[in-house]
Amino acid sequence: MKTAKMILDRDYRIGKVDDRLFGSFIEHLGRAVYGGIYEPGHPLADELGFRTDVIEAVKNLGVPVVRYPGGNFVSGFRWEDSVGPAAERPRRLDLAWFTTETNEVGLHEFAAWAEKVGAEVMYAVNLGTRGPEQARDVVEYANHRGGSALSDRRIANGRREPFDIRLWCLGNEMDGPWQMGQKTAVEYGRTANEAAKMMKWVDPTIEVVACGSSSSEMPTFGDWELTMLNECYDNIDYVSLHRYYGNPTGDTAGFLARTMDMDDFIHTMGSICDAVKGKKHSKKQVQLSFDEWNVWYHSNEQDREIWKREKWDRALPLLEDVYNFEDALLVGSMLITLLRNADRVRIACLAQLVNVIAPIMTRSGGGCWAQTIYYPFLHASRYGRGTALRAVVDSPVYDCRDYEGVPVIDAAAVLGDDGGVTVFCVNRDLAEDCMLALDLRSFGDLRMRDHLLLHHDDVKAVNTEADPRQVCPSSLPTAAVDGGRAQIRLPALSWNVLRFERA
Ligand code: AHR
Repeated sequence: MKTAKMILDRDYRIGKVDDRLFGSFIEHLGRAVYGGIYEPGHPLADELGFRTDVIEAVKNLGVPVVRYPGGNFVSGFRWEDSVGPAAERPRRLDLAWFTTETNEVGLHEFAAWAEKVGAEVMYAVNLGTRGPEQARDVVEYANHRGGSALSDRRIANGRREPFDIRLWCLGNEMDGPWQMGQKTAVEYGRTANEAAKMMKWVDPTIEVVACGSSSSEMPTFGDWELTMLNECYDNIDYVSLHRYYGNPTGDTAGFLARTMDMDDFIHTMGSICDAVKGKKHSKKQVQLSFDEWNVWYHSNEQDREIWKREKWDRALPLLEDVYNFEDALLVGSMLITLLRNADRVRIACLAQLVNVIAPIMTRSGGGCWAQTIYYPFLHASRYGRGTALRAVVDSPVYDCRDYEGVPVIDAAAVLGDDGGVTVFCVNRDLAEDCMLALDLRSFGDLRMRDHLLLHHDDVKAVNTEADPRQVCPSSLPTAAVDGGRAQIRLPALSWNVLRFERA
């Protein structure tokens, strides 16, 4: 058996974990909206047509913020299509996903759904085919109290009180050639700056997120940020990061090491923001919004086939990745990476939430179940709030194709507001358990309350509607805390949540 050591000290803090680190994303894509959150006629639909089983599954995750309505979709979206009497809303071709958008669900309906699940809306404006004028218009429609044409239209459409949307994305992945209205970094930086200025003139209390590179693998990553931030630094609050990983070759050790890249991406992005800050002699710190992250690759081939057969249908079953156990481990490591960078990453959105690369799946007319990745997200959202601690970890390491010195034990720790401590660990070792020696002496008297475990002997095991609990958490016996020290066995290939409370 391997051994590792971790020292935690209540005074060695990374920073407060922003609750919005546990955000998610619903795009008008595939069956996320239609057949996902919204299915009038389903036996469990509520008076607005929203599935109550999905609402319960989302509420259980405690998602505080949901990005909406896209994604690539937003870059061709006309927000006005999505308000007013539903029967009069236009059907439009969506060039992002080659489907037809019916606009049955729009801003009012989505805001009502978000209220039901207890989340705030993070609204993306279209800076692809549209520009600053339509962006400021939707802020006025959503957030102005009334007495102007657009805010009065909202009131006439049934919503007297402003929606009070606090967080706005200035477009989506504007560096990508797949994006409608792709821009150069200068074009985007200028557009984002003008949009941000005008949106904030309408409502000075909002915060805005500028598009960083759509992945650290983009050839323009770095240059894009330096150039666009040079144009808009003073008027924006966050820069976005997006990253998806896959394991098409079946190399589990290499796949589980991918958070080395994620960590690097965050540090590089933070450094670039600070370089622009320095160049501009600014006192303002731009923070990071990791507003798309997940595993995404299982459905790629299937999607190509769907488009060959059924292009332009409504709610095509796109991006329906079926997640296995190793995906849950990587998602756990991605959450650990976010927590370890909680001083810089203030917002993060698991992409996405229902049916589309999602922790929650539904069958239209049928059931709703949790995919494997649901569980690490649930645990992190439930027990990862408080203050992130700087864990000192001494772990064995391994080498794989892309990285050297990958720690076998990937870990983060959080001090809760109640004085309890939670340690999240992934044991990346394919074969060996690891005995973790945990030093908690600085916290005074603690006792171990829980050891939650996610493990399956088969890394390819999945949950399905028929067998929804194939991969689900269990509890291990708790270890004794003796003089502030504990010895905890972490099984090979496992996600662990070690919860300690004041004795
Ligand atoms: O989340 C799926 C897609 O991934 C989003 O629409 C886009 O922003 C990203 O490329």
